[in-house]
Amino acid sequence: MNWHKEVVRDLSVQLAPEHPGGLPLANPVMTAAGTFGYGTEYQHLFDIQKLGAIVCKGTTLQPKEGNPQPRLAETDCGLLNSIGLQNIGVKALVNEKTPIWATWRVPVIVNIAGETVDEYAQIAGALDGVPGISAIEVNISCPNVKAGGMEFGARAESAARVTAAVKSATSLPLIVKLTPNTGEIVSIAQAVAGAGADALCLINTVKGMAIDIHRRKPMLGNRTGGLSGPAVKPVALAMVYEVSGEVDLPIVGCGGIASGNDAIEFILAGASAVQVGTAGFANPRAPFDVLEGIQQFMDREGISSLSELVGAARR
Ligand SMILES: Cc1cc2nc3c(=O)[nH]c(=O)nc-3n(C[C@H](O)[C@H](O)[C@H](O)COP(=O)(O)O)c2cc1C
Repeated sequence: MNWHKEVVRDLSVQLAPEHPGGLPLANPVMTAAGTFGYGTEYQHLFDIQKLGAIVCKGTTLQPKEGNPQPRLAETDCGLLNSIGLQNIGVKALVNEKTPIWATWRVPVIVNIAGETVDEYAQIAGALDGVPGISAIEVNISCPNVKAGGMEFGARAESAARVTAAVKSATSLPLIVKLTPNTGEIVSIAQAVAGAGADALCLINTVKGMAIDIHRRKPMLGNRTGGLSGPAVKPVALAMVYEVSGEVDLPIVGCGGIASGNDAIEFILAGASAVQVGTAGFANPRAPFDVLEGIQQFMDREGISSLSELVGAARR
């Protein structure tokens, strides 16, 4: 008789275990906000339904044109961006994108950013009960906008205020996305957890800049930007490791993840899921490669359930 050994792998993740509706993902691989559009741009190129979740572009109350050009500059091992949250605004998102998402199996998470606490709540309110949205990711960590963004996320008190306001405006699960541009990420994470976050995402970009020595001017129209890609992976990993030891919420690791092995490092550090961002610009298949790489690692190591690995490097 010819027996085929069936490999049973459980990659499922529950990102909001305390939330009444929960946020179940079939696997831990998500796209990072601002690097995968609305998902619709990719739906005819890849089987996007295979992903754990799609996080859409940062969404504001009103449409936004973003920062002056140039908005991207390559660095030795990373990317600087100062997009400044260019997007279609929440009304167009609800009218044009969510009906498409409602037909998808893959959960879509809307990343939101406000200029005031009240704006965050208004955006969350406009998304509440709309079919096609599985959760909100609250961006209190964008380094590229004058008002809002990182201004709220760099201090525990204001980070908690935004989280509580969004929480009271929506019944959707909340992921709060933190900035590395602070010395207090642990106390900010604790404050956000206390204010009702269901999960945390670490990290947004690291503030940086590049200068054109011939023009003697900053490379980016906004002068400074946010660094992402391989350069920030060790920073993100250390922050996931540190925060996961102090806060009892699922963590989504993000920063420089380009392979299954990168993702496994974040999971061992304490992340329950991962997001793939900049890697997708050089290799649009990157999120799918990361997923396959995780599966291959599990097969090689004889791991049947990914949850066994979460935080294993801490033990
Ligand atoms: C071009 C670009 C646009 C981004 N836009 C957003 C955004 O709208 N909202 C947000 O929370 N993060 C945004 N980010 C940050 C990413 O989601 C991610 O946190 C960061 O790039 C680190 O991950 P990576 O190294 O895998 O790209 C953006 C990053 C890039 C490179």
